[in-house]
Amino acid sequence: MGQLLSSSKARLSEATSEATSRAAQETAASSEADVYADGAAAAYDADAEGLRLFEVQLGVLREQAWWPAPDAGGLVSLDYGCGPARLLCGLGDALAPGSCGLDPSESMLELARSRAADAGLRDVVDFRNLDPAQEGAELESFAGKADLVIVCFVMYFVDDKEKIFGHLCRSLKSGGHLFVAEYENDVPQAKLETWTSAWGCRIASTLPEEMLIADIDEKFKINIFVVEKVADQALN
Ligand SMILES: C[S@@+](CC[C@H](N)C(=O)[O-])C[C@H]1O[C@@H](n2cnc3c(N)ncnc32)[C@H](O)[C@@H]1O
Repeated sequence: MGQLLSSSKARLSEATSEATSRAAQETAASSEADVYADGAAAAYDADAEGLRLFEVQLGVLREQAWWPAPDAGGLVSLDYGCGPARLLCGLGDALAPGSCGLDPSESMLELARSRAADAGLRDVVDFRNLDPAQEGAELESFAGKADLVIVCFVMYFVDDKEKIFGHLCRSLKSGGHLFVAEYENDVPQAKLETWTSAWGCRIASTLPEEMLIADIDEKFKINIFVVEKVADQALN
């Protein structure tokens, strides 16, 4: 699993140095996130470690007591920093119309749209560009509408994580769930608890990823959290 992070972070730093040299010629329009993704979207999508992790994440979701039975109707789902949307599209029949993936990279969104079309989800899920400078303000239009909010391997790129988690929690319907798969350094459990309880959410389960994948690199420990919206006000 460390390979996914090392390859992602290596690509990021390659892309960042490319960006530094390109910056002299280009306007300030290309953010680090755009450059990262534009340079690496296809390679990221083809990463075998990413595929393995996707299977773990999907398995965790499908084991949830609240996961819809086939034909029971889907979940309105929102994926913040969806990238090529392997997980979102992998939810298949569990997705309800009105679902959405957001990402600042057009290259990632192109892959996501193509994956959704291949999966027959074109009318179910929409993909939208997000501007990182808005710090999650785009999510306000989803306030109280999502059954499931997903955020996976995005927080490394986010400066004000508390603010983004606030938007993500506000996007949830009462009883909805936030699925988080992030590197521990980016989202420590105690911080996640603070950031989400302020919005009526509590951590329902925590699955240290090394329990699920044997050859994890200790330096890059991953946590998977399922957070539930239990109240409309801050929890004590
Ligand atoms: C490592 S990829 C993860 C993609 C996907 N969530 C997954 O698990 O495969 C990180 C994604 O975050 C996006 N991203 C970068 N900066 C972001 C930001 N400030 N807000 C939201 N997404 C961002 C990138 O464009 C990229 O698609």
